[in-house]
Amino acid sequence: MWRLSRLLLLLFLVRDCSTSTWQNPNRPFMSLDPNVHYNLSTFTAPDAIQNLASKKGPLLFIATTNHLYVLSASDLHVLQDLITGPTNSSECDLCSKCDMGSARPAQAEDTDSKVLVLDPVEDLLYSCGSSLRGVCFLHEFDNYEILYSSFLFRAASNSPSLCPDCIASPLGTVVTPHVHLRSVLFYVASTVDSNVAGSYGTTSVSIRRMLTSQDGFAADFHSLTVLPLYMNTYPIHYVYTFSTDKYVFFLTVQPESGHSKNYHSRLVRLSATEQEMKR
Ligand SMILES: *[C@@H]1O[C@H](CO)[C@@H](O)[C@H](O)[C@H]1NC(C)=O
Ligand SMILES: *[C@@H]1O[C@H](CO)[C@@H](O)[C@H](O)[C@H]1NC(C)=O
Repeated sequence: MWRLSRLLLLLFLVRDCSTSTWQNPNRPFMSLDPNVHYNLSTFTAPDAIQNLASKKGPLLFIATTNHLYVLSASDLHVLQDLITGPTNSSECDLCSKCDMGSARPAQAEDTDSKVLVLDPVEDLLYSCGSSLRGVCFLHEFDNYEILYSSFLFRAASNSPSLCPDCIASPLGTVVTPHVHLRSVLFYVASTVDSNVAGSYGTTSVSIRRMLTSQDGFAADFHSLTVLPLYMNTYPIHYVYTFSTDKYVFFLTVQPESGHSKNYHSRLVRLSATEQEMKR
């Protein structure tokens, strides 16, 4: 998995100039001059940037361990810093909001960002971390800030053996949110081992339908998981996901076969209109 650096620099100047060079050869080409001090907007994160999300619009969302930053996309000014962990911190409003009942882990955990994706239709951001059983949050935003965050976990609907609201794996997860027949579907792919798949675990690949009450996912979801025998020896890393109207794709890196030391990259395709995962 690639890592983004801590420093984000606005390079619109460079990008804009190179595109216009191609489109309009009469316009003088401007490259960065090493003798000029450019005053580019920057944002320096306290830690490695783990995820980044943006849509056409004024906001940029950036996640690091225990933080979700909302930045102005035009000048990288920090508009909001939402604390997402450690889970026992009094500064973490999101953590104290989570009524997980007996599902709540006994230990305090740091929150590494595993998933940060925007809803394809609404102004909603979904974030899922390594803590609190891989639960996701839904953040409603306007042009200026995140207005409201809620928790996609219903204590009464999850158990150690079946946890529809357990989405992210600490070993890595990718999600494509997809809207089909007015339902928000999460196409989820997670790297799992026997630890992760154990109590309140997530699955390898699943399609989870968000409840219309927007407080969790339907329990009757379809999923596939690596057989327990191979879970610790056959890691599948999901490195990217994207979709078309008809399909959702996952790009993987995985061993060529059960005992091979060679790795292959594969493309997995699921139907964007059927939730049964028949093909
Ligand atoms: C660079 O831009 C920032 C923000 O607009 C401004 O506060 C600062 O004075 C500028 N620095 C220089 C050297 O122009
Ligand atoms: C949170 O838990 C950690 C580790 O168990 C501990 O070191 C820390 O003091 C706790 N913080 C709070 C605010 O309780």
